[in-house]
Amino acid sequence: MESLKPTDVLDIERIQADFPILAREVKPGVKVVYLDSTATTQKPVQVIETMNEYYRRSNANIHRGIHVLAEEATALYEDARVTVAKFINAPAARQIIFTRNTTESINLVAQTWGRVNLNPADVVILTEMEHHSNLVPWQILAAQKNLQLEFIPVDAQGYLDLEVYRSLLDLNPKLVAFTQMSNVLGTINPAMEMTQMAHDSGAIVLIDGAQSVPHFPVDVQELGADFLVFSGHKMCGPTGVGVLYGRKKLLEEMPPFLGGGDMIKRVQLRSFIPNSIPYKFEAGTPAIAEAIGLGAAVDYLQQVGLDAIAAQEQVVVDYALERLSEVPGVTVYGPEAIDRGGVTAFNLDGVHAHDVAQVLDGDGVAVRAGHHCAMPLHDKLNIPASARASYYLYNSVEDVDKLIDAIYKVKKIFRL
Ligand SMILES: Cc1ncc(COP(=O)(O)O)c(C=O)c1O
Repeated sequence: MESLKPTDVLDIERIQADFPILAREVKPGVKVVYLDSTATTQKPVQVIETMNEYYRRSNANIHRGIHVLAEEATALYEDARVTVAKFINAPAARQIIFTRNTTESINLVAQTWGRVNLNPADVVILTEMEHHSNLVPWQILAAQKNLQLEFIPVDAQGYLDLEVYRSLLDLNPKLVAFTQMSNVLGTINPAMEMTQMAHDSGAIVLIDGAQSVPHFPVDVQELGADFLVFSGHKMCGPTGVGVLYGRKKLLEEMPPFLGGGDMIKRVQLRSFIPNSIPYKFEAGTPAIAEAIGLGAAVDYLQQVGLDAIAAQEQVVVDYALERLSEVPGVTVYGPEAIDRGGVTAFNLDGVHAHDVAQVLDGDGVAVRAGHHCAMPLHDKLNIPASARASYYLYNSVEDVDKLIDAIYKVKKIFRL
């Protein structure tokens, strides 16, 4: 049965024109169909030009110089912090720490807040759907401090089991850390409800926003998150810059993460006095151009509109789920379209995910294959790997058609 093709919410042709790479032919006559935005997103010309302009006009080290270039660079960097703070409705810009990425933000919290506040036998609750970034830092800390890690299970439909979560909270955890959206199942977790439940039991909450902040409006005050972490490169910004948002009191009480320049007020040969937030956590020369690029990415996303981006992704993922379900032998992992963001991880019976991805690549369809840094989740699903198509503001329903056509080609090649 032929599917009825839905209409894109955004003017995709206009959006695509902002992303030079999307015009690229990856093979003669074959344009890229980029379906790997969960791994990293493409960058609009507005971000590329902002970074170019910074290097052409204003490049200097920040916070130290008194010359024009240093002042300009500092102002641009600090403006980016304000832009990011407003984007997630943080009460103050100094609650935004620039890190390298989500991974570094979580390690920072584990090795500063965690090292000071967690003690042997303390309970930390995570989930079975976490990215390795939100597992391994806690495993390292658990080994250092003899902590007890507990996991909210994922059910057969790809939802977190909130009844088990409720019973785990009886263990009086000190910390609950979970992803707002799974990078494999696409599940959008009820972050506000989960945060409230954790707070009712006295726990601190860290939300991994790597897959949520880029895709739909996230308001830290509404969520009640104590910590929220995300990466610039997954939201049209450059690699090398990420964000840690934290409650002011927590950040102020946390010891520094890395030691060096900029993170100090005063240094003597045998001691130092740390700087105030956010600088206390930004040791050394930061990724200046990248932070400025992230600010430009946020401006770009806001100009398109986060609600419109979310609506576009919803149309595309609905259509993708429908079309994928029509292909014999395809299994898609995760919940109903209504509870998921723009991710469809799948397998085709009889073909390894890597082979699927390789054939798709022949038609310019770029998907990811593997465990997507979520090995425990793949173990739970009882699969070694999956192929993952993921969608962002520049993907149209036509891209889904190209994906489906390429999957039929895989079936043909493998005589399925
Ligand atoms: C849910 C989630 N958390 C964390 C990360 C890690 O992000 P980064 O590699 O930018 O640190 C990712 C990356 O795919 C992710 O999807």
